[in-house]
Amino acid sequence: EESLSLAGRTVLISAGGTREELDPVRFLGNWSTGRQGYAFARAAVARGAVVTLVAANTELPDPAGAKVVRVVSARDMDAAMLAEAPGADVIVMTAAVADFRPVVRAEAKIKKDGALPPPIELTENPDILAGLSRRRAERGPAGQVIVGFAAETDPSLDAARSKLARKGCDLLVLNRVGDGEGFGAADNEWVVLAADGGATPVPRRSKDALAEVVLSLAAARLS
Ligand code: C5P
Repeated sequence: EESLSLAGRTVLISAGGTREELDPVRFLGNWSTGRQGYAFARAAVARGAVVTLVAANTELPDPAGAKVVRVVSARDMDAAMLAEAPGADVIVMTAAVADFRPVVRAEAKIKKDGALPPPIELTENPDILAGLSRRRAERGPAGQVIVGFAAETDPSLDAARSKLARKGCDLLVLNRVGDGEGFGAADNEWVVLAADGGATPVPRRSKDALAEVVLSLAAARLS
């Protein structure tokens, strides 16, 4: 596919998996490595973009030429993304965000004291992607292109279309996870759905190749 330039454009990317603290030594987390987001950062830098990468708990080397903002929790990531969003031409939310966090973070390490295991009460985290779409609708810039991901163990195009509408983004990358695919796997198979009705299947190739396809779709939507 054509490698449309992003020279002079600003691209904001989230990567990795958020962690929600239970106490000073424990957290609820997920298996995301951040590799897909880092692939986007490299590809956007190569197209001449000014790139900010908001990285949650990744162990990858900083991509050359990108500004990296490190975060831990979903709320940290929400604040960092909202702070960077006003200047972004393209936003790509590859991060695996915890939907829930513990209501309380214990100040001391939770002890096994012979009693019953402690219950963990959870509360909902902000939906960062939906919030970014809302922010754009309220405050612009109108031409900003927002890309979300939907990692599903049982992918359905219908469900993905509803998710795209619910999140208010322009592109949604649907991929299958589990059974050796998705998180941490070397490659993957995707469909990129567009809010204007398009669907672009992407064959099983590398995360770098997916980033190129998605950036071309995003760049084509920038006026
Ligand atoms: O709803 P679901 O988790 O499947 O949506 C996935 C997409 O939404 C991803 O782009 C992810 O980064 C984003 N997301 C988010 N905030 C959440 C949950 C998911 O931005 N709390």
